[in-house]
Amino acid sequence: MKLWGGRFTKEENQLVHNFNESLSFDHRFYRQDIEGSIAHVTMLARQGIVTQEDRDRIVAGLQGILEDIKSGRLEFTAEYEDIHSFVEAKLTERIGEAGKRLHTGRSRNDQVALDMKLYCRDEIDEIDRLVKALLEELLKGMKENTDTYMPGFTHLQKAQPITLAHHMGAYFEMFFRDRGRLGDIRKRMNTCPLGSGALAGTTYPLDRECTSSLLGFDEPTRNSMDSVADRDYVIELLSALSIIAMHLSRFSEEIIIWNSNEYRFVELDDAYSTGSSIMPQKKNPDIAELVRGKTGRVYGALTAILTTMKGLPLAYNKDMQEDKELTFDAIDTVKGCLALFTGMLSTMTFRKDVMEASAKKGFTNATDAADYLVGRGVPFRDAHGIVGQLVLVCLDKGIGLEDLSLEEFRAVSPVFEENIYNAISMETCVKRRTTLGAPGQEAMKQVIQAYEKLLD
Ligand code: ARG
Repeated sequence: MKLWGGRFTKEENQLVHNFNESLSFDHRFYRQDIEGSIAHVTMLARQGIVTQEDRDRIVAGLQGILEDIKSGRLEFTAEYEDIHSFVEAKLTERIGEAGKRLHTGRSRNDQVALDMKLYCRDEIDEIDRLVKALLEELLKGMKENTDTYMPGFTHLQKAQPITLAHHMGAYFEMFFRDRGRLGDIRKRMNTCPLGSGALAGTTYPLDRECTSSLLGFDEPTRNSMDSVADRDYVIELLSALSIIAMHLSRFSEEIIIWNSNEYRFVELDDAYSTGSSIMPQKKNPDIAELVRGKTGRVYGALTAILTTMKGLPLAYNKDMQEDKELTFDAIDTVKGCLALFTGMLSTMTFRKDVMEASAKKGFTNATDAADYLVGRGVPFRDAHGIVGQLVLVCLDKGIGLEDLSLEEFRAVSPVFEENIYNAISMETCVKRRTTLGAPGQEAMKQVIQAYEKLLD
């Protein structure tokens, strides 16, 4: 069972085997492992290092193994150390002698570096698709809600009126940057470590350009030590995933607040909520809470791998096997969160009337009232003070600025005229915010057009 039994005289202790093995989790990249081996042996044959006949036998054997794993005919049994040993052992069992030539000019160190890169690359593409689906959902929501008014907050205190489209646009920007980060990482990591051997290259005339291009890399890596010791791409991926999780968590937090009995801005679909075992009236935002909660384990993965890597001397060390479970878990977690969150968002109902009524309360038009005075020659600082006094009057009476009579306005400043009511209506407050990036409908239309192009 061992690839390295030659210099050993004792059987491996069972606990040692269990502690050391990685097959129970690295079987996940069997497809990438086999893909890498096919490229490697194809190159070996082109270079005359193995015969074409052996290459063909090996490739056919590997393809058979791939099919059998996929269909469940071939199972991963506990006696093998890792996916690399497993595939090689099965190959030799099936095709004999030729199978033993596959590992010529290769080490498990460059092999695992390759597998992990191929795996991460595939997952980046998958995660990118999920983020794109969320962006499409957000864009759809934006188009439908350029006239849906709601309060914008600072310090979780009502600040100024905005639209739901504007709020969703903020998340569009965040998730769009996430896609950019994934793309940057994919590009930077897309170099092929295969051919680096254990750490110092090999003595065989390998064609590294050949395997690199067969496997869809831009070029081979340039330093064999770094090639087997580098897990920067894992760290970068986990930090990108942490940021995605953080964005999802912030949005979830808002949805939880919006869904609360006090706000009632949204109604979650029954399919995306759960009940209470004791309180019959409850409908809880569990999915949003779980998405928020799972952020912790994604950050945990990033912290763990950074800590594992920080003390490692060059080149390969077994510590690096610890990169796998946590990366797999973070990838699964973020993919799950993205899919669930997008589903929750697309089935959620926004209570536009409640949002609009809320935007009207809480003096969200106070800045506009001050701007009105500025438009009539009052210095901004004085205008600020005048409106502050009016707010006090309103607070006393439990009304909004728009409910004051013209006499009450003029009692504080004679500059006010009848058109103050139009100037501080919510529609005006939003519509007049026309600068790029602001919630005004004109500005928003431009931004929506730009987002459409970005998603193409
Ligand atoms: N299972 C190992 C890992 O995940 C594969 C590389 C093993 N190489 C070695 N020299 N022990 O890192």
